[in-house]
Amino acid sequence: MHVNMDGQGPLHAQLTRALKAAMFAGRLGEGGRLPATRQLARELGLSRNTVLAAYEQLRAEGFVRGQVGSGSFVTPPVKPEALPSPAQVEHPPQSAFARRGRRFHDHATMPGRATPGMRYAFSYGVPYTNPALTTAWARELGRAAAYTPPNYPMTQGLPALREAVCDYLARRRGVRAAPADVLIVAGTQQAMALTARVLLDVGESAVLEEPHYTAMREVLQIHGAQVEAVEVDAHGLRLDRLPAAPPKLVCVTPSHQFPSGVVMSLERRLELLAYASRHDCWIFEDDYDGEFRYDAQPLAALRSLDRDGRVVYVGTFSKALFPSLRLGYLVMPPGLQRDYLNAKWQDDFGSSAIEQAALANFMADGGFERHLRRAGRALLERRGALLAALSRELGDALHVADSRAGMHLVAWLRRADPEQGNALILAAREKGLDLYSIAPYYQRPPPQAGLLMGFASMSVAEIEQAVQVFATCMRERGLA
Ligand SMILES: Cc1ncc(COP(=O)(O)O)c(C=O)c1O
Repeated sequence: MHVNMDGQGPLHAQLTRALKAAMFAGRLGEGGRLPATRQLARELGLSRNTVLAAYEQLRAEGFVRGQVGSGSFVTPPVKPEALPSPAQVEHPPQSAFARRGRRFHDHATMPGRATPGMRYAFSYGVPYTNPALTTAWARELGRAAAYTPPNYPMTQGLPALREAVCDYLARRRGVRAAPADVLIVAGTQQAMALTARVLLDVGESAVLEEPHYTAMREVLQIHGAQVEAVEVDAHGLRLDRLPAAPPKLVCVTPSHQFPSGVVMSLERRLELLAYASRHDCWIFEDDYDGEFRYDAQPLAALRSLDRDGRVVYVGTFSKALFPSLRLGYLVMPPGLQRDYLNAKWQDDFGSSAIEQAALANFMADGGFERHLRRAGRALLERRGALLAALSRELGDALHVADSRAGMHLVAWLRRADPEQGNALILAAREKGLDLYSIAPYYQRPPPQAGLLMGFASMSVAEIEQAVQVFATCMRERGLA
């Protein structure tokens, strides 16, 4: 009998696979008798024990029946088509959580997702990096990989990183926290998911700013929260528009409202804190890009004014370094440490110790802040180039909401409704330029077309060329 052994692993396993292949190919059909073990061992130059082990395995898996001595016979059915392919089976959602996941988050249409093959992209979420950062980070990672103990990391995060974060927060964000208050998380995304679990029961209400970071809304909705987006004015979240029944959680971006760019005024901050204390509600402060301000010192975080312990402060390394790192930090309100640690433990036991150790060292030896200074200068230059090119090429066809901070701006198309805006995006793609609508960042999208324009990942020259393509598309469609 001819069998084809693949040379991978122990001989009995190879023979088992080869006999199955012969069955699938129809060379050993249903009811057919397998050769006697002694005979097959002789033919193949194998020991009889190897053949016996393979037959035993086939019997255990139900491919053959019968006993040693009385013959082994192929059992039906063994055709490959008959074996179910898990990928082909689409089950209905198996839980309320899965049902909400399908309803509220469509993985295929994430806002800001890059279109492949574009020459230019005003993508948001791709940060500024440079060769100096890549080299320094590779060195830190290599060192950390060599010295980090291989056991499970502390759930709360490496003490060295929590200390470095506290030092950074005190100096740059005005937040006074002890390492015991800090939880290292896998980015803002995990911070939000843990917060939802720690603070909200299914059906409880949460307020977001309108517009807002879409992933935040989706995490809350999938958790089962009742989410309401509340308008923002020039001072930040409008407290007079909060629902009559106070929400359990209010999520804000006070340093640089996402995506409109508004900075929450001091008066509004104090009012929000007073509201939270009065109504026993929690505030989630998402300080996603607070380190990049171009006109003045960064504003102190809302958490620095919090006297009653209502603010969950969250920072991320996705903007200051890069999002593939998946590291961020959460300053837990007093009294909630136990619940946050439980939630983090359930999720993943703790974040990767090697990346944490590398980052702790990068922060302690000054590399992180050197990078922030370099990134700040580059972003200032890129933002200036974008503003100048938009004003030169498109003038009053656009209204640009400039916040003098961060890595994006919002451009409203004065003469376009959302449908015309979408047509413009498609036309720009034809010319190799990726543009992103502002609409997905709203619960109730506005009647005017707007674009979220990220500028961190393009050089000044690329920004200028991309704006030329943008302006051509605008003129061709009569929008400028
Ligand atoms: C408002 C806002 N928060 C947070 C983040 C970062 O999320 P993460 O830390 O999960 O990467 C982003 C990134 O795009 C953002 O725009």
